Amino acid sequence: MGTVNIKILDSTLREGEQTPGVYFDSHIKLAIAELLDEIGIDIIETGHPAVTDEIYSTVKMLAGKQFKSVIGAHARSVRKDIELALDCGVGFLGIFYCVSDERLNGVFKKDLQDAIEKIVTSIEFAKKENPGLLIRYTPEDTVRSEYKNVITAAVAAVEAGADIISIADTTGFMVPGTSKNMYDYVTRLKEDFDKRSLNPLIAVHCHNDRGLALANALDALRGGANIIDASVLGLGERAGIVDLAQLLAVLTLEYNITGWKLDKLSDLYNLVSTHSGVPVPVNSPIVGKNAFTHCAGVHTHAAAINPMHYESINPELFGKERHFALDHMSGIASVRFALKQVGISDLEPETELLVLERIKSIGQRGRIVELSELPHIVETSKHYKRIIK
Ligand code: COA
Ligand code: ZN
Repeated sequence: MGTVNIKILDSTLREGEQTPGVYFDSHIKLAIAELLDEIGIDIIETGHPAVTDEIYSTVKMLAGKQFKSVIGAHARSVRKDIELALDCGVGFLGIFYCVSDERLNGVFKKDLQDAIEKIVTSIEFAKKENPGLLIRYTPEDTVRSEYKNVITAAVAAVEAGADIISIADTTGFMVPGTSKNMYDYVTRLKEDFDKRSLNPLIAVHCHNDRGLALANALDALRGGANIIDASVLGLGERAGIVDLAQLLAVLTLEYNITGWKLDKLSDLYNLVSTHSGVPVPVNSPIVGKNAFTHCAGVHTHAAAINPMHYESINPELFGKERHFALDHMSGIASVRFALKQVGISDLEPETELLVLERIKSIGQRGRIVELSELPHIVETSKHYKRIIK
């Protein structure tokens, strides 16, 4: 796969806080932002300043830091929201407003023209107040809204000064390879901008309701998207959005994108997990406890000789180590490998077998045998006598 030019927007502090019950204190937001900046994230969406005074103050504090990442805020198409965001001194502003007839008529009692007027007024105001501000306009629930409404509003937004148009799959509705896919959506939108000699950056915001957020984001990337939204642990409304670590892993491994400090991802995930109360699943790619642990004897046997037989990702790339778990799935190769790790060699084959028996017996009770237990298991196995024949 060739190199692509893609920017990453992390929304752990904005979308992530839309996870029910999740709130990061200001100093935790600062610690998270520092790690995101260190990892090399392009844009950090830090919050919606109109939501609470504390969020406003935190966004302002983060915008005042000398980060390499651009600090962003979220706003409705409302003068008050935009003024508060501008006052925070952010470099990026995401403005959203829906465009579907159903929502406009049903919820807002407005038509498309009213909506466009609100969007244009908001963007023109923000751009006039801060010409250097990067402005993103999101037609909410883009992919399920009437396409003619989306393109009309998006063109008006770009003409009013928006730099980025975000395609939001707000409900995780898209499925790669079907008639409703991100690749087709992005290519169509880009072509329609091209025809009008407009060239905004295209961002994608993919929700994970069908478990396809990352697949949809990659489909959008193939269609020419320029910015992908993600969050730590995929935190966000309902099933959340694209998982940051998984996204960075795929972009590094498949698209040859370099420059991210991937070895900081574990620290970031531990920090976010601790303060969100959302555990890192043990089988989570890259950051999960088991992500680089081999278990079954057949796997360990081959992987101990050459890990590539059972790995397609090198753990070292993420500052992680390969592990071999000892439990009822272990075989004699697993035992020999583990014994070597604790510096035990030249065991009698019968003792090795007794050690394996012991490990399988403990494993069957649902527990992994720690390496630190091994010397003691060896010692007891040496003294073990079978008295019942
Ligand atoms: N642009 C402009 N106005 C919008 C809008 C948009 N994109 N989306 C919703 N609104 C309006 C609604 O019409 C409604 O206003 P109205 O009651 O005057 O009709 C209001 O925003 C939302 O309703 P409600 O939440 O009851 O209003 P509120 O004034 O009590 O609170 C917030 C507004 C934004 C402070 C509050 O909803 C909040 O804290 N939200 C969290 C952030 C959020 O919702 N983010 C969504 C990200 S996709
Ligand atoms: Zn979202």
